[in-house]
Amino acid sequence: MPQDKLKIAVAGAGAFGREHLASLALRDDMVIAGVADPSKAATDFAVASFGAKAAFADPVAMLDAVVPDGLIVATPGHTHVAVATAALARDIPVLLEKPVGLTAADAEALIAAEATSKAFVLPGHILRFSSPYRRTVAIARSGELGAILSVTGRNHRDDSHAVRYPDIDPVLMTMVHDIDLTLWITGGELQSVLALRRPRDTFRSETLITGWDTAGAMWHISNAWTVPTAGIPPDRVEIVCEMGSVEMELGIAIRVFGRNPREIDLRSEPADDMLATELAAFLDGVRAGAHPGVVTLADARNGLRATDAILRSLSTGGVVTL
Ligand SMILES: NC(=O)c1ccc[n+]([C@@H]2O[C@H](COP(=O)([O-])OP(=O)(O)OC[C@H]3O[C@@H](n4cnc5c(N)ncnc54)[C@H](O)[C@@H]3O)[C@@H](O)[C@H]2O)c1
Repeated sequence: MPQDKLKIAVAGAGAFGREHLASLALRDDMVIAGVADPSKAATDFAVASFGAKAAFADPVAMLDAVVPDGLIVATPGHTHVAVATAALARDIPVLLEKPVGLTAADAEALIAAEATSKAFVLPGHILRFSSPYRRTVAIARSGELGAILSVTGRNHRDDSHAVRYPDIDPVLMTMVHDIDLTLWITGGELQSVLALRRPRDTFRSETLITGWDTAGAMWHISNAWTVPTAGIPPDRVEIVCEMGSVEMELGIAIRVFGRNPREIDLRSEPADDMLATELAAFLDGVRAGAHPGVVTLADARNGLRATDAILRSLSTGGVVTL
């Protein structure tokens, strides 16, 4: 188990890689031992702004040169399996951005690689590390409101997403968060789904799904990449139960409707730094030599089974049963 400052490496120094680098740079218990990105401008920025000790074009070359205690992967989704399995083959734990792969089969490949490694993968399903989400889920799952009947999620993004991410479907980029959240809330797996998109043939569109899961809960999720400014509506989740409901508007309030109605004001709370919380969990796992136990590749695989079905429904126009 590493005792001194941890050596952490980062693959992918684009928009979100920089968020990870900024979060790492705030900690004094580790060093950013290396950064890998084929873009020299990206690695130069990481070295100059976040104190990365060495720069590489290729993540595998970085793993062999630096031998880090842990790797954060913030590369595009289609590269995740190759980069993460290279780290696992070297027994290096990985914080792997979502989506962990593009299909459930990709997640199975990662699960197989993790099974033969001494290291682990922590999927970057960041909502699991968010205090308002954790409190909302805890209320829904406490039994106070009875059995969960449905989860309704709204997670809209500005339309620059359709330009910045032309190669990955919004279902894999944004809805994957709502899907993981819903799996976490209900404890079930998606069983049947109808997915709709308007306008149909562009990512600058709204994607809507409705379905139900093995826990008996209905799913209703909407993501729109249409908002023309960064002023998007707040992310929102509503959980309807047999004896009431709980809803959360991010940064605004958690509201509980039932025998003990109440409102938790989130506006007066300090900003929720879920990325720092996720990073702390990962580093604890690296030090302990064990998965931190919050969200696993099996959870990510269940999410990708759902995205597989949703993408199939979008292409066929019909209900898909898993
Ligand atoms: N958790 C979240 O809320 C959240 C938010 C945004 C992005 N993400 C995830 O972070 C990842 C990166 O997204 P982004 O917005 O930073 O994209 P981006 O396009 O801004 O950056 C990706 C970077 O990876 C580099 N890259 C490409 N292939 C590489 C490889 N094989 N090895 C090393 N670097 C490589 C690119 O040059 C680029 O600099 C994606 O998986 C995305 O889904 C997560």
